[in-house]
Amino acid sequence: MLKMAGRMDVLGTETAFEVLARANALAAQGRSIINLGIGQPDFPTPQHIVEAGRQALADGHHGYTPANGIPKLREAVAVDLLRRHGVEVSPDLVLVVPGGKVTMFFAIMMFGEPGAEILYPNPGFPIYESVIRFSRATPVPIPLHESAGFSFSADEVLDKITPRTRLMIINSPANPTGGVVPRRELDRLVAGLERHPQLAILSDEIYGEILYNGAEHVSLLQYPSIRDRLILLDGWSKTYAMTGWRLGYGVWPKALFGHAERLAINCHSCVNAAAQFAGIAALSGPREPVQRMVAAFAERREVIVAGLNGLPGFRCARPGGAFYTFPNVTGTGLDARTLQGQLLEETGVATIAGTSFGEYGEGYLRFSYANSREAIAEAIERIRRFLGNLPSSMIKD
Ligand SMILES: Cc1ncc(COP(=O)(O)O)c(C=O)c1O
Repeated sequence: MLKMAGRMDVLGTETAFEVLARANALAAQGRSIINLGIGQPDFPTPQHIVEAGRQALADGHHGYTPANGIPKLREAVAVDLLRRHGVEVSPDLVLVVPGGKVTMFFAIMMFGEPGAEILYPNPGFPIYESVIRFSRATPVPIPLHESAGFSFSADEVLDKITPRTRLMIINSPANPTGGVVPRRELDRLVAGLERHPQLAILSDEIYGEILYNGAEHVSLLQYPSIRDRLILLDGWSKTYAMTGWRLGYGVWPKALFGHAERLAINCHSCVNAAAQFAGIAALSGPREPVQRMVAAFAERREVIVAGLNGLPGFRCARPGGAFYTFPNVTGTGLDARTLQGQLLEETGVATIAGTSFGEYGEGYLRFSYANSREAIAEAIERIRRFLGNLPSSMIKD
């Protein structure tokens, strides 16, 4: 019998991929499926970006690049961060990696070990908790509250810090809730963190450009007092509809950069060269494709929030960013996982149970609105018919 390392038993996964597999299996049987489970833009990568990748291959960029990324790309990241956040970042501290997830994995593995505690948002991106457990550190949830627009209270977060806390993970705008943490709460958090200089911070800002109705994205890069221990996670997947290109980056503090780069060399050597050239075109090219995509998400957000709020047993907050809504479904009388399963099997609408994002996700479902307005409207009608068939005693509005 093969004997694997014990940590393999605690590695989790992303339920979104399981739901996708089941949805595809049902579609292969001829069922009509509306996929509101998937966490990626439904737009193609803008043409000028695709062209830059194609050109890089034609120009012979077929070999390894520097492990940290080609210099022009790291410079383009620094220019983009200055444009968006008004903060100077040295290109030497930018580590280009294959997707946003890699910065997360490296940061958690760098700080996690038995006895260490890592704070992470809950409900939150499931890979945080999974990798914290894999590192053998103790995951300590930061509860996100529907009543606060799925932001957190800085005092509640700071209260969870102990002498064993090594790393705190923050994600705004957030998956799965679409919540955006307001500047005042970040100000209070950072002021409190000044009392805990031993703590590193991972700020996952991958949805930082997908914002609605004047919601403000405040990058933690803007706080000089934590710059020497802040790891910024960002990338191209969501902003430029490039999930399949596998391209992301971390901005690391000077003291950690060499360690992160060593992890990269041990793990993947460098990112696919052509994808890196495409990444330069994305950052230095026209902004209109991004603006058009965000405008389309904004319209769909109106359709889905109104639609979900009109369903018996549903209550849906208006998300400030990303492309997810996270309605409270406790009024349906069904737990999140049962509702996810029944909606997929009986109506063909794929969603993700809130519990896939942590224990505080019970009572919620995640809907991605990376789908057309027509598909969203049809999904709402199918769910309405499904709820209409439940015993009326179950529904509490
Ligand atoms: C909050 C968050 N961070 C990071 C990622 C990972 O992005 P990538 O596909 O670039 O690895 C995702 C993807 O869904 C996400 O939702």
